[in-house]
Amino acid sequence: MNIAVIGTGYVGLVTGVGFAETGNAVICADVDVSKIDRLKQNKIPIYEPGLEPMVERNQSEGRLSFTTDVGAAVEASDIVFIAVGTPQDEDGSADLRHVLDVAAVIGKHMNRPKIVATKSTVPVGTAEKVRAAVAAQTKVPFAVASNPEFLKEGAAVGDFMKPDRVVLGVDDPEAEATLRELYEPFVRTGNPILFMDIPSAEFTKYAANAMLATRITLMNQFADVCERVGANVEHVRLGIGTDERIGRAFLFPGPGYGGSCFPKDVKALVSTARGAGFPLELLETVDRVNEAHKHVPFAKVKALLGVVQGRTIALWGLAFKALTDDMRDSSALIFIAEALAEGATLRVHDPKAMHEARRRLGNTVIYVESPYEALEGADALVVLTEWQEYRVLDHERAKKLLKTPVVVDARNLYDPARMRKAGFTYASIGRA
Ligand SMILES: NC(=O)c1ccc[n+]([C@@H]2O[C@H](COP(=O)([O-])OP(=O)(O)OC[C@H]3O[C@@H](n4cnc5c(N)ncnc54)[C@H](O)[C@@H]3O)[C@@H](O)[C@H]2O)c1
Repeated sequence: MNIAVIGTGYVGLVTGVGFAETGNAVICADVDVSKIDRLKQNKIPIYEPGLEPMVERNQSEGRLSFTTDVGAAVEASDIVFIAVGTPQDEDGSADLRHVLDVAAVIGKHMNRPKIVATKSTVPVGTAEKVRAAVAAQTKVPFAVASNPEFLKEGAAVGDFMKPDRVVLGVDDPEAEATLRELYEPFVRTGNPILFMDIPSAEFTKYAANAMLATRITLMNQFADVCERVGANVEHVRLGIGTDERIGRAFLFPGPGYGGSCFPKDVKALVSTARGAGFPLELLETVDRVNEAHKHVPFAKVKALLGVVQGRTIALWGLAFKALTDDMRDSSALIFIAEALAEGATLRVHDPKAMHEARRRLGNTVIYVESPYEALEGADALVVLTEWQEYRVLDHERAKKLLKTPVVVDARNLYDPARMRKAGFTYASIGRA
């Protein structure tokens, strides 16, 4: 099949590569000239494990190409996927500007009948707006579809190539048959392709993210209570996660959820529900509680240091989670802003997000090349991201480098008893 994917960010790039990998001819288009230039040279603009060799292989074998000419990509394709960003608008709703801009371009280049599928996360009703924006430019018949994406950054290739399920909102039998054929290679083990009406598909993506964000937030609240009543949230996590009805995933307490999806998608669903005259009070609380929880790591380090002014803090982890360089809505940004406002000096490290951090933070912090370099002369170590390389702390080395042996572990990577025995003043999340 001839496929165009418009938008080559975390989702669009993985989507394009994934479809090329199964033998389709794919053109990925983006308005970001430097991104496309780099991709043409097999340089990946993001950190995503496993993606680079796939880009290289599919490009060299002629199934995958990159362009800034969105119109030409549309004309060469039978299925066009819209995978541009849907950032948060000022009122919390999803900003559909990029999606509708792309829809207009698709309409202008509708040289033959096509399927226009939206992969971006968009509120119910967007497919109809896309249909209207395309139809305003063309008389050629076309079908619209909603195809929300559930991949996780850091595991995006595996998630795309072997999805738990594929959700497709369609209202046209021919489009349904074509999309089934396109996705069958990805579900050979029997995972379902779920066809449904378009509004339900659009809603499903928000429902999934709202459910996951709520689990994390509830665990963070349990952690707060555990600390106050003398319980250990890690025991509680294992105690409930082994219950089949609950499951083990997304139960880890931490510094508050961040990233490019949960914060904005929760807010967008809250906005949709309010617009529909049915405020989602539970989710409004999740959003508020999570924002408040992001201040916990700084409050803990402040409590242990007493005075922050003039102190140096070593920070391990800037990305919103491990295995990505994505810092969008990362708790580290809140921590850094608070620490700088109170007059601290920050020595920061992240295995993959240093480039992104430099872009966002400029020279407000000190960047170091290795985790232990951050500790040199610092008054405390704060761990915010659960990268593998942070999971074992060299006690002796850390104590030698730190001015005072204070550690705030916002991912519960270390054992409190062992940390105390080794002489650290140690705080974590939800362990009294
Ligand atoms: N990142 C994730 O983990 C994830 C997972 C599932 C769904 N989503 C959703 O997928 C969508 C894309 O997310 P992302 O993280 O890939 O975004 P991103 O910001 O990484 O990438 C978006 C890309 O679209 C390009 N773009 C913007 N306007 C354009 C236009 N008019 N024409 C062509 N290209 C244009 C941008 O230059 C950028 O490269 C969002 O709706 C997001 O909510 C993201």
